[in-house]
Amino acid sequence: MPILAANWKMYKTIAEAQAWLDAVADRPALERAEVVVFPPLTTLHALRGRCQRLGLGAQDVGWAEQGAFTGMVSAAQLRDAGCGYALVAHSERRRYACEDDQAAARKIAALWQAGLTPVYCVGEDAAEREAGLGEARLQTQVETVLTALSNELGGRLVIAYEPVWAIGSGAPATPAQASDAAALIRKTVLSRCGAAAAARLSLLYGGSTSPETVRGFMAEPLIDGLLVGSASLDPNSFLAMLEVMVDA
Ligand code: PGA
Repeated sequence: MPILAANWKMYKTIAEAQAWLDAVADRPALERAEVVVFPPLTTLHALRGRCQRLGLGAQDVGWAEQGAFTGMVSAAQLRDAGCGYALVAHSERRRYACEDDQAAARKIAALWQAGLTPVYCVGEDAAEREAGLGEARLQTQVETVLTALSNELGGRLVIAYEPVWAIGSGAPATPAQASDAAALIRKTVLSRCGAAAAARLSLLYGGSTSPETVRGFMAEPLIDGLLVGSASLDPNSFLAMLEVMVDA
């Protein structure tokens, strides 16, 4: 099944989140994709249990099991709150919270330990791309994490290729660029972790996707789905993306 994930970032009150869910919840297309919402933590309780076909995820996770870590929320606490997924090292976390690949590896391990699916975000920024260092950056982001995890996938892994220059810019990567990145990521996982692990990997593209661009990305055999930011906030545009995806 294709994957459609909505990253709401720091948008929506509880009432707004409920209104979004009311608009989306009974759509038959939900049965034909793995649909996951990453809402603000404050809205999780209101969304939980209201739609069986909709997965819930957190936008970040603490790497520790429990303890004196003010401001962190553990993977087990997220599971307790109804989450089955969490984003790891989104570029905005890398930028504003100084997250690096080592921290990402600890978070991925913590999520597996609690039985959650990590969605690990990777991607080069504009300067790296212009300097011709995009592929090297991607490879480092994936390899550092795999090394820290002893080249073993202890659970399901989703990797989202989100070039920083495309996020929120209105100018997505081309499907061919996204496919090249997906090929590089899969090859890296294959060479480190073996064929069985690489086959279990799911690859998403994210960065300025919209209803108009879904078909092009989903036509790429190496792309399993999309991680959507601004176009996911309006339920109509999100549903339009879902309809195109399940028809593709
Ligand atoms: P965007 O965000 O779709 O608004 O570019 C994607 C993301 O940051 O995950």
